[in-house]
Amino acid sequence: MPYQVIIPAAGQGKRMGAGKNKLLLTLEGVPVLIHTLKVFEADPECAGIILPIHPDDEAEFKRLLKEYGIHKVSSLVIGGKERQDSVYNGLKALGSFEGVVLVHDAARPFIKAETIHALVEAASNEGGAIVAVPVKDTIKKAVNSQVIETVERSSLWAVQTPQAFRVSILLKAHNKAVSEQFIGTDESSLVERLPHQVAIIEGDYDNIKLTTPEDLYFAEAILRKRKDAGMK
Ligand code: CTP
Ligand code: MG
Repeated sequence: MPYQVIIPAAGQGKRMGAGKNKLLLTLEGVPVLIHTLKVFEADPECAGIILPIHPDDEAEFKRLLKEYGIHKVSSLVIGGKERQDSVYNGLKALGSFEGVVLVHDAARPFIKAETIHALVEAASNEGGAIVAVPVKDTIKKAVNSQVIETVERSSLWAVQTPQAFRVSILLKAHNKAVSEQFIGTDESSLVERLPHQVAIIEGDYDNIKLTTPEDLYFAEAILRKRKDAGMK
């Protein structure tokens, strides 16, 4: 089923501390941004990519798209202060498209096409769906470093991207968030407030977000594993 994807790439990568957008760091010689874009470029179901970017990165990103032959980026839009603002700017660039739209962090280069396809199908049927994995750690709630309770783990999910919605639903959720000045850390939190149901598709633990420097070691290990398995 065809879909469009918004790939927010307009952050500054402060926690990575690389002195530049972390998406420009390379893994096996290829920028993180390109690793992520290649998954969608190669997916026949992906009908278009909208890329919210920081104005400072525009020239370099355009150069990389050309160098690596990424042709599906239909619009480069200027991102906003928060990730949510960047996604909203991307949504406004969708025009009259009425199908399923995905939002996927540019900083998650290990997403698999099979997960994307399961997600798109669920979102098409139910209106909204997100990729998540079961929480492995024991999670406790605390105030001032004093434990208040142990949260029952079997109902907990660690949420990733992509997150997929019918366009009309995601647009409605964003408009509501803007008018109520609500900032969420993912799209689902905006859709939940409509309210509208959101289904979970179980993904895998490799779909990490590159956030802090040690994530680069995990990323190298995942790439090595895939190479050994003949995947990438
Ligand atoms: N992002 C964005 N616009 C923003 C902030 C973030 O498009 N105003 C994007 C990032 O480029 C990234 C994704 O959203 O691909 C997830 O955000 P995060 O991992 O927090 O990246 P950064 O905001 O760049 O990193 P940091 O928070 O450490 O500065
Ligand atoms: Mg951030």
